[in-house]
Amino acid sequence: MSEDKATFEAPSNIALIKYWGVLDAALCLPRNTSISMTLDRCVTTCTAEPIDAASDEIWLAGANGLVPPTPGFAEPMVRHLDQLRRELGVRSKLRIATRNNFPSAAGLASSASGFAALTLSAASALGRGLSPREASLLARRSGSGSACRSVLGGYVEWAAGSDEESYARPLAPAGHWDLRDVIAVVETGPKAISSRDGHALASTSPYFERRQELLPDRLARVRTALAERDFPTLGATIEEEAIDLHLIAMSSQPAIFYWSPGTLEILRAVRELRREGLPAYSTMDAGANVHVLCEPAAEGALVERLESLGSVGFVIRDGVGTGPERLTEHLI
Ligand code: PMV
Repeated sequence: MSEDKATFEAPSNIALIKYWGVLDAALCLPRNTSISMTLDRCVTTCTAEPIDAASDEIWLAGANGLVPPTPGFAEPMVRHLDQLRRELGVRSKLRIATRNNFPSAAGLASSASGFAALTLSAASALGRGLSPREASLLARRSGSGSACRSVLGGYVEWAAGSDEESYARPLAPAGHWDLRDVIAVVETGPKAISSRDGHALASTSPYFERRQELLPDRLARVRTALAERDFPTLGATIEEEAIDLHLIAMSSQPAIFYWSPGTLEILRAVRELRREGLPAYSTMDAGANVHVLCEPAAEGALVERLESLGSVGFVIRDGVGTGPERLTEHLI
């Protein structure tokens, strides 16, 4: 059955306007529309192959070959495969091998790239090509809603709406604007509170509804700044938005603190760099690591400053990317 083997590489994405708060947790319907930039280098590679077996086989592909994942890692993947089979009207079980080239579960959206790569490779191995809309809808229902943005390249908007309307659409291709994302890594372990729990708690924050009121204007500012390549407006807006996400997390009941002392050290350093005349702006997902966005001319000096900070373990130099790719080389 190896002729049905399919391998896809799918990138992570960084939210410029965040998905935070859920209307329907089972379907991953977000409370608000979000906008992201698809990354280039932080990717998950996933191979899927039909097998004649009673259950799916899930493997992590690492430097030492295939190793079985923990049950906590495999269960959501099998749940997603069951849902894909139901949607696509097929029964075959699959052997899956997956590999991230960046730290898993560290707030670097490994679940977004992981579920995007799984959706594309599994559907293809099951004999179904997907339109971008179908791929995005199916990836959204994985449980990691932001995976729906990782099936597209460039700048992407995921609309809030009904089950059939809530999928990602392209705003601009990667070639429209060469933005860089220098990721300052201060923690590589898994985060204490999953984004799934964070979404569920978000509406307990007294600031949650206020952010909903502010979002239409903020979304419009980001769309216009992207269209006009207006970096100061984009940067100021995404920094304000990221702080709001964490404000809501910190004021949820119970409170969630994703930041570490290193997060604050980086936020402060990026403000200092701006005062020195270097345009760079920070954003964080549900984790302690900081994505610092800049234009190409500022990247070298930004990397140097971030690497000099005591709390930064390492930096990942990434940037806008063109989206998932089908590969001819398989992991299994
Ligand atoms: O897709 P999830 O359930 O992992 O949630 C993603 C949440 C944030 O990364 C914080 C924001 C986003 O839009 O990516």
